[in-house]
Amino acid sequence: MIQKGLEGVKICESSICYLDGINGRLYYRGIPVEELAEKSTFEETAYFLWYGKLPTKSELEEFKRKMADYRELPAEALGILYHLPKNLHYIDVLKIFLSIHGSMDGNDEDLREKAIRVASVFPTILAYYYRYSKGKELIRPRKDLSHVENFYYMMFGERNEKIRLLESAFILLMEQDINASTFAALVIASTLSDLYSCIVGALGALKGPLHGGASEKVPPMLEEIGSEDRVEEFVQKCLKEKRKIMGFGHRVYKTYDPRAVFLKRVLQEHFPDSKLFRIASKLEEYIVSNKIKNIYPNVDLYSSVLFEELGFPRNMFTALFATARVVGWTAHVIEYVSDNKLIRPTSEYVGPMDVEYIPIERRD
Ligand code: CMC
Repeated sequence: MIQKGLEGVKICESSICYLDGINGRLYYRGIPVEELAEKSTFEETAYFLWYGKLPTKSELEEFKRKMADYRELPAEALGILYHLPKNLHYIDVLKIFLSIHGSMDGNDEDLREKAIRVASVFPTILAYYYRYSKGKELIRPRKDLSHVENFYYMMFGERNEKIRLLESAFILLMEQDINASTFAALVIASTLSDLYSCIVGALGALKGPLHGGASEKVPPMLEEIGSEDRVEEFVQKCLKEKRKIMGFGHRVYKTYDPRAVFLKRVLQEHFPDSKLFRIASKLEEYIVSNKIKNIYPNVDLYSSVLFEELGFPRNMFTALFATARVVGWTAHVIEYVSDNKLIRPTSEYVGPMDVEYIPIERRD
């Protein structure tokens, strides 16, 4: 039987994440994601996903120190920065640096150690390229700041009292079972390729607009709508043209995506006057109350508005998603290869058989 898009197909057992798409619930190793987004930190949740247990105080301190130590890029990789064009997409920038970093990273450590190293360096790559491409002086990583605080500081050269909102968004985006990019990482891991290749492959999958790339399509779509009273007209036009409404719909959630619910509440509280937020809320209200295609807002609808309000450039939104999701990708790779099986599906051949090979001079 053919399962188009592998819909509903289970490819492995996992104890990392449980996604209940009927009731709109998401758990990381048994803990509701909203609780982690409210109470935990990037480092603690990452530790939890990678090690399978919440850290003690001293374990967390040591882990934070380790992530801070891994922040700087190797000098050779940094040298490449100044040769890059200044208009690259941030996902492509990550792919370039991770490919170089990966080639230079020896095979002497275990996978988890490598995963920690890669995740630690994501913000540095993004912030360095951001400042280089804007002609600004680079800001070196600071070890006294947390992972997310340091990222914001390296980008903008200042602290932001709303940084906790970005940290919550990153926690919500960190893991989501076998989504397309995680699956891409697992396909590569299952051939026993290296971890960096898994992440580069996952980045490519995440970039697409049906997956993480949707976050970059949302703000221009909201601007195209322009005002709350034009929502109905816009939705009807999309339906007529069979155009997807970005930030809505999900393969597994058949109700509210709990991450969207959380982020909407955050925006309501902190950016109630944001024009994009008001249009996004109206769009949600119209689509849900009229049961349009039975779709609901997904995480990208509101994460993109939050990223916008925090001042990040739009072509970095998918890379921000990746900065969090790299933890989930690598946690799954580590789990999968511990009981590895090459991922190699088949297709149902429906083409012709016994076709004659016609020499080129006889073809019309
Ligand atoms: N706008 C309009 N119609 C939609 C949408 C949407 N956003 N999502 C689903 N539909 C319709 C679709 O046209 C189809 O209708 P019909 O049966 O009449 O042809 C029906 O709903 C089923 O859709 P599907 O595309 O076959 O379902 P899927 O499970 O393959 O797609 C999806 C899931 C996420 C690709 C899809 O909902 C979509 O394209 N959404 C817009 C892009 C987006 O926001 N992506 C982010 C996904 S969540 C976070 C992430 O992974 O980054």
